[in-house]
Formats: sequence, structure tokens, C-alpha cells
Amino acid sequence: MLRDFNTPSVMYELGIVLVALIALQALLYFYSSLRSVLYARAYQKLNLQALRTRVLAEVKQEQLTQEVAASTWSGFRKFRVRRIIDEARDIKSFYLVPHDGKPFPRFQPGQYLTFNLKRRESEKPLVRCYSLSDSPFQKDHYRISIKRLDPPPNTVDIEPGLSSNFFHREVAEDDIVDVKAPSGNFTLDLSRNKPVVLIGGGIGVTPMLSMLEGICETESNRECWLFYGIRNSGEYIMRDRIKGLVTQNEDVHAEICFSNPTDDDAIGIDFHHNGRVTIDLLKSKLPSNNYEFYICGPGPMMESLTTGLKEWGVPNQDIRFESFGPASIKKTTEASRAGDLAPEKQLEIEFSKSSKSVSWDGSYSSILELAEAHNITIESGCRAGSCGTCLTALKQGEVEYIEEPGTLPESSSCLACISIPKSKLILDA
Ligand SMILES: Cc1cc2nc3c(=O)[nH]c(=O)nc-3n(C[C@H](O)[C@H](O)[C@H](O)COP(=O)(O)OP(=O)(O)OC[C@H]3O[C@@H](n4cnc5c(N)ncnc54)[C@H](O)[C@@H]3O)c2cc1C
Ligand code: FES
Repeated sequence: MLRDFNTPSVMYELGIVLVALIALQALLYFYSSLRSVLYARAYQKLNLQALRTRVLAEVKQEQLTQEVAASTWSGFRKFRVRRIIDEARDIKSFYLVPHDGKPFPRFQPGQYLTFNLKRRESEKPLVRCYSLSDSPFQKDHYRISIKRLDPPPNTVDIEPGLSSNFFHREVAEDDIVDVKAPSGNFTLDLSRNKPVVLIGGGIGVTPMLSMLEGICETESNRECWLFYGIRNSGEYIMRDRIKGLVTQNEDVHAEICFSNPTDDDAIGIDFHHNGRVTIDLLKSKLPSNNYEFYICGPGPMMESLTTGLKEWGVPNQDIRFESFGPASIKKTTEASRAGDLAPEKQLEIEFSKSSKSVSWDGSYSSILELAEAHNITIESGCRAGSCGTCLTALKQGEVEYIEEPGTLPESSSCLACISIPKSKLILDA
């Protein structure tokens, strides 16, 4: 039976449906407008929060820079060893405060202190650098963490590491040491917010610890990954602190790699990966290659990681590394590529005090290395352009720096450990 649509009851029903439809549409419109407004507000709030965090990080970085500039010192200053802590096998931390009790500057995360150590058995002072391993915002003390070095395995008649053993065996609490102000260019800019990967091998973790502390303290929500490679729990320093920072900061992650775990080391509890820090591990854990990478550790580790990162497409400016010793990555430049130089391009270097002339053929990484290979004495300390011990007067010619010096010397002298000749040279050595 056909329904008569003209009856009042049907008209009434149709009216109700129509009104319901209009009401539904209005409701939907209202809901979607409300959602857009709420979304816009939340977005604005997030943006404001991000802006506030950025500004806070920039202010903290600026404060740090100003404080460093305001209360730094030149030459060596006396510091008292306030506390010595055993951190792990052969690793001790030394807490230092100024002997004069006056203010001392904070530092940029990644910087180090240079020590002038006077030992009883030698008149010649020892100059060595040690990275600051605590927070750059720490006001009470400086902290350095030193690994004691034995002679290389299977060697005879070789002395153990002079400075590290001196610190471990002879330096006691309340002793006084001579210290140069924090320096070094291997630093993390806390005002930036690009995600960061910190990679520390062995004792090379020390500058990473100060960078990690700095990131957490600026509360910048900056994504940060720490990859820490050691043999086993016996070498693990600041374990509780690292765990604490990871727990308190959801943007901070730590991946601990043991290359030779002990029977008691439990994977998933004491460490995360069985093996070394490799490029494959980085690729498997990081969502992309879009990070700033900071690396410090043994030469072979740095060599393989920097090569791997470049092959992965990470630009050079995002790969920063520091070496703790001469077994460093040799930074090649146009002029220093080993064995590159044709005979006509080789430069003569005259060492006037030693009355020796040697040809620079590009097979040494620095003037210091060339001098040592020819039994010419140039004193050295850090061998990284930091401590100034290898400063040598330049009587003639010009040098090129293969690494940025801690402080650029005048043009009439050069830091032999990080320079190569640009022209024929006469050196006062
Ligand atoms: C910027 C910077 C930051 C650093 N930060 C830290 C840090 O935070 N913590 C840390 O522990 N270290 C750090 N270092 C390394 C530190 O400065 C020292 O180089 C390190 O402690 C070794 O010094 P040493 O005097 O004990 O050893 P050295 O006396 O210099 O000897 C080094 C090694 O060579 C061996 N050796 C000596 N003579 C010979 C020979 N003829 N043939 C073969 N081998 C020989 C020794 O037995 C020893 O194993 C840093 C270095 C730099 C440049
Ligand atoms: S050895 Fe330290 S600056 Fe050259």
C-alpha cells in the first residue's frame, strides 16, 4: 500500500527528521569548530612551551659563556684536591677547588683542564690534559676522572703512564696541583636543539658525561643518545648517575655496550649490547642520521665510526671528535696527506738549535712527529694543540694548523703538535 505523504502525521515526521538533521549538522559544525579551536590552542601552547624551553636553554648557554669569560685566569692556578673517589677498575675521580677560595668559572661541556705536575723524581714538569667530567653548571668544584695506564701488553722496560700513575699513587686529598683554566673547542652548544649522539669509548666517556649533564640541566627536551663502550662492568663509571639521568629525562637514552662481559654481567640489566659501539648499532637504534655526533675514545673506534657516519651520509660538520692522545685520527689536509707530496713540492724544515735540516714529504701528521722521528727535541704535553708545551719559535716561514689550537699562538711561533709547514721553515728547536 502506498503511503500518502500529504497527511499531517507524515509531514510532522518529516519535519522532525529535517530538524534532527539540521541539529546534527549544527552539532557537527560546532564540534569541529571546537576541535579546531582546542587544537589551535594546544598547538600554540606547545609552541610557546618549545619557545620557552629554547629561550631558557639559550639564556643558560649565554650565562655559561659570560661566567667563563668573567672569571677565567691565565697561566697556572693552584687548586686543592678536595676529594678522591674510586670510580671503577683503575679509574679515579678528583674533585678540585681553588686554593685561594676565590670564584672560579664554570666551563663549556666538553672542555678540559691542563695540569702542570711536579714530580719528586724529575725536575721537568709533566703537562697533561684531563676532561671535566661533571656538569658544566656545577659551582662547587671541578671534577676530572683519570684512568691509570699500564705499559702496553707484552713489553719490557717500559714505564707505566707517568701522569695517570702519579695521580693515582701520589696525589692525595688536600694536595695542591697547578691547573690552567678550562679550554678546548670540543664543546657542545647548549643553546642548539638539534638531537645529539654522544659516543664514549672507555675513559673517552668523560667529556660525554659533562655534555649529558649539561643537556639535562638546561631542561631543553633535546633528544640525546649516549653510546658507551667498555669491556665490562669493571670499567663502568658513573653508572647510577647515567641511569638516573635516563630515568628522569624521557628524551635521554643510554646504550651500554660491553665487549667482554664477565660471567656476572647480565644483558638487559647491566648492559644492553654484547660487543663494541659500531656504525651498525647506531643505525639500528637511531631513527635517522639527522643528529650531531660527538665521539671520544680509542683511535680505531673513532676511525671506524667517523668513516661509517660519513658513508651513512652524515655531513662533516655534524661529526665532532676528540682524541685523548697521539693515537689520534690523523686529520688530513691538502698538504698533509701521507705520501702525497711530489718531490718538487716537498719543503725543507731547518731545526736551528739541533743543526738539522729535514725534508717534509707529508708522511708525518705534524711537525712534532717529524722532529721526534729525527731525534730533535721538542717538549710535548697534550699533543692536541691545547697545553702550549710544544710552542716553538718560528724564525722563518709559515705553518698551517690541522686542528684548531686551544689558543692561537702569535705568528712568530707555532704549536708543533698540530701544525704542518706551508712554506720552507726555520724553527728554533
Ligand atoms: C684533551 C684531552 C683530554 C683528556 N681527558 C682525559 C680524561 O678525562 N681522562 C683520562 O684518563 N685521560 C684523559 N686524557 C689523556 C691524558 O691527558 C694522558 O694522556 C693520559 O693520562 C696518559 O698520560 P700518562 O702520563 O699517564 O701516560 P704517558 O706517560 O704519556 O704514557 C702513555 C702510555 O704509553 C706507554 N709508554 C710510555 N713510554 C713508551 C714507549 N717508549 N713505548 C711504548 N709505550 C710507551 C705508557 O706505559 C702508557 O701506557 C686526555 C687527553 C687530552 C689531550
Ligand atoms: S703538546 Fe700541547 S699544545 Fe702541543
